[in-house]
Amino acid sequence: MKNFAFTVSAIAMLAGGAAHAGPEAEVLHWWTSGGEAKSVAVLQQEFAEKGGEWTDMPVAGGGGDAAMQALRARVLSGNAPTAVQLKGPAIQEWYEEGVLADISAVAEAQGWADVLPASIAGHMQCEGTWCAAPVNVHRVDWIWANADVLEANGIAMPTSWDEFNAAAEKLQAAGIIPLAHGGQAWQDATVFEAVALGILGADGFRKAFVELDEATLTSDEMIAVFDQMRTLRGFVDPNFPGRDWNLATAMVMNGEAAFQIMGDWAKGEFLAAGKAPGEDFLCASVPGEGFLYNVDSFAMFEVGGDDKQEGQALLAELIVGKNFQKVFNLNKGSIPARTDVALDDFDSCAKLSSDDMAASSEGGSLLPSYAHGMALRGAQSGAITDVVTSHFNSDMTSEDAVAQLAAAVANSM
Ligand code: GAL
Repeated sequence: MKNFAFTVSAIAMLAGGAAHAGPEAEVLHWWTSGGEAKSVAVLQQEFAEKGGEWTDMPVAGGGGDAAMQALRARVLSGNAPTAVQLKGPAIQEWYEEGVLADISAVAEAQGWADVLPASIAGHMQCEGTWCAAPVNVHRVDWIWANADVLEANGIAMPTSWDEFNAAAEKLQAAGIIPLAHGGQAWQDATVFEAVALGILGADGFRKAFVELDEATLTSDEMIAVFDQMRTLRGFVDPNFPGRDWNLATAMVMNGEAAFQIMGDWAKGEFLAAGKAPGEDFLCASVPGEGFLYNVDSFAMFEVGGDDKQEGQALLAELIVGKNFQKVFNLNKGSIPARTDVALDDFDSCAKLSSDDMAASSEGGSLLPSYAHGMALRGAQSGAITDVVTSHFNSDMTSEDAVAQLAAAVANSM
């Protein structure tokens, strides 16, 4: 039976190889929720329209931790996928391992340097060459709310954490789950960094999560961040452990819960379910100044074979193409990475994101998300998230949490 199966698949492979001469790509990504799948389908379709053969390798798991484990296993076994959803300093880490393909020819032909903001272009470059192609800008520091639930309870979108806490207590008394949350380490980290931005301010956030400054990591303000995390822990329902982020979004959609603190991929879920911003759901940046950005991108791994290399070049070209940047981001909840895509067809949350990004870039408060792998290398961000999640899931004091935070960061260097 085994031999037979092998023979059949070997024949199929030969037949497939013979039948298709042209761009090929095996694409590793973690876009498996409703909104995400709709978004990646745009790229699949454009690739197919250009004669490309796409082999999909989705690895479920929000935030991409499982996808990154799958990637490591594939590269270690000498069989890297051709294109991989990869972002932030992980791009440069893989480059240093000598496994990334150089896509500078496409970048130069398309003039990426002229259409991407410098802050984004920097993430896509490795020692002067282009080593990744950006698809979007997600904002992380958002609060989403069910419009009807807020109205029925006489609550406005909170503009401070005190207001948030007061609203949450009122909702809880009315039998509504105040905060929809999924207890997975990356979701804890997402909420934590949004709270931290509000309480530490942009400079404090940068010192803590970009520069890893010990005094900031152990400051009274950081103690206040953990205090607020403890307060938020009291606003989630008992079934939160392990819940996927999109199921938490669904709780807000159906009115079981009032708020979710999550990046704007959550908007992709609302939109995929036919919900309208301003009517069915509301968006607001979390209390405080600043903008936490999370840029999704694809890196190409060095592979042999003309068809695969052609596929990589085609993908890179399509990804930064104007049409893709528009249609993909309309579905994904994010805004285009390119600065020359008109936002006329985008909704009010996307326009707010774009305006706030420009203003925070001017004002020096545009910051990389640590929770989504934009600010730090994996060892450091992992060390921080371990402390955040063990604090959230125990009765650890805020004082102990900051002490552990500083120690974990020091050990990770
Ligand atoms: C983020 C990623 C988003 C979205 C989210 C949930 O890290 O940048 O595109 O997919 O995870 O999976």
